[in-house]
Amino acid sequence: MQDKRAHLHELQEQSKVGGGEKRIAAQHGKGKLTARERIHFLLDEGSFQEMGALVQHRSNLFGLDGQKILGDGVVTGYGTVNGRLIYVYAQDFTVLGGSLAEAHAEKITKVMDLAMKTGAPVIGLNDSGGARIQEGVVSLGGYSDIFYRNVQASGVIPQLSAMMGPCAGGAVYSPALTDFIMMVEESSYMFVTGPNVVKTVTHEEVSSEELGGAGTHATKSGVTQFTYPNEIALIEGLKKLLSYVPQNCDEEPPSLPYTPADELRMGLQHIIPESANQPYDMKEVIGEIVDTDSFFEVHKDFAENIVVGFARLAGKSIGVVANQPAYLAGVLDIQASTKGARFVRFCDAFNIPLLVLEDVPGFLPGTDQEWNGIITNGAKLLYAFSEATVPRITVITRKAYGGAYCVMNSKQIGADMNFAWPTAEIAVMGAKGAAEIIFRKEIASAENPEEKLAEKEGEYAEAFANPYRAASRGYIDEVILPEQTRQRLIRAYAMLENKAVQLPKKKHGNLPL
Ligand code: HXC
Repeated sequence: MQDKRAHLHELQEQSKVGGGEKRIAAQHGKGKLTARERIHFLLDEGSFQEMGALVQHRSNLFGLDGQKILGDGVVTGYGTVNGRLIYVYAQDFTVLGGSLAEAHAEKITKVMDLAMKTGAPVIGLNDSGGARIQEGVVSLGGYSDIFYRNVQASGVIPQLSAMMGPCAGGAVYSPALTDFIMMVEESSYMFVTGPNVVKTVTHEEVSSEELGGAGTHATKSGVTQFTYPNEIALIEGLKKLLSYVPQNCDEEPPSLPYTPADELRMGLQHIIPESANQPYDMKEVIGEIVDTDSFFEVHKDFAENIVVGFARLAGKSIGVVANQPAYLAGVLDIQASTKGARFVRFCDAFNIPLLVLEDVPGFLPGTDQEWNGIITNGAKLLYAFSEATVPRITVITRKAYGGAYCVMNSKQIGADMNFAWPTAEIAVMGAKGAAEIIFRKEIASAENPEEKLAEKEGEYAEAFANPYRAASRGYIDEVILPEQTRQRLIRAYAMLENKAVQLPKKKHGNLPL
């Protein structure tokens, strides 16, 4: 028995060194942690329970027969984050570039299956060159097994992807199927094919950073929702994100204790500028409404004309979707619509009530938008709000023009409570544009067309540049002073706590993709 114990101990030690001390040193030289260190920093001290440490690949092709590495390049298991159960896998780039093949994939699917059975989030710490080239089709089969599970788990348990190194092929498609992606600046990359293949196929010379660095995916493609300067900061980001979300779709998000206080927020009184065309920062409005420092922005650097993120209101998680007048006047374009829609659907899937702060002049006009499908993409946001069954509240702070009024959680698409500030303007379009269209002939034939336009603009503004016409129809439940907003929202969410809505029976809807 003594010998057997010693043998097991030896195997356990071997399984911990992955690709070997030299490669680990190289990894550290690039400012990267090892797979085990990442898990160590993510999970509560001492909570990690590893599974499959002795698993090995089964290939003897292309030199793999000489490389039996315990664990096959991925560390998998479970543990807790702030006391809550989490499943985790961390790919080890020091082993064959963290590449995935049959055994490696089986280890990942095993924790995914357990996560589904027990209703707990899965976190993937990705650091992989994709399908292991030496193992051929079984590598592809392994990825397909993971993709299938990513989709089955979507909307059932939260799935978070952290990109910790250069990731290609399947190593980016699995994260793309998960709920959120986080990247490390200047050491993680995501691409379907790397710069060398790009050069061969399209003759473009592009660096890894430009092609698929954190900056590129945070601002241009929108593939990543979060970027961090280093791995430790990213791991803290993962923990923070988990604090807003439930373990699964049957649970409520965790809430913090809250003692009711004076909920009036006088700072909101003076945020809206005198002129309707002057910008202001909607993030200031959010900061004043939600619990102090609780706003956790998602997709911060992408489509900045819409702001989305988690926050707490009286200790409870909410999802905020807000137009940003400080960027492109808060207009809705393709990127803003898809960004908003994706966030709304996540919140709805995981029982996180929605708060919409609205100041939107409409959809962005132009050939670029039309040719790239603003119709289909704008419809995504409309669809996402319309099918959401979580408590939904809208506050119109200023403009609610045209189709954007309908889209941004209007009463008619199922919002539960709609508030407006006295500065709200709820109309088909701005007064000037409206006057130019409906009084075109009158203005053209006037002795002084400019004066006539100003007069008609004034008439239209008088009629519609306020919230009272909408309130008289019941489209707005209450016109409130800005400083009352937080108090009204706390009350309304408490009232909506037991909201239960069933969608019509269907297999699934057909989101305009
Ligand atoms: C086997 C791999 C590998 C892979 C890297 N390695 N990728 N081994 N299969 N897919 C090995 C390298 O041979 C090398 O081994 C070690 O990992 C480190 O790789 P480097 O190239 O030295 O690292 P780096 O310069 O940082 O570049 C990282 C990389 C690059 C950008 C990821 O390695 C790369 O482009 N790899 C191939 C990517 C790829 O095409 N994957 C298949 C995608 S198809 P040694 O022993 O020399 O240190 C796919 C299908 C899924 O995934 C389906 C999708 C829908």
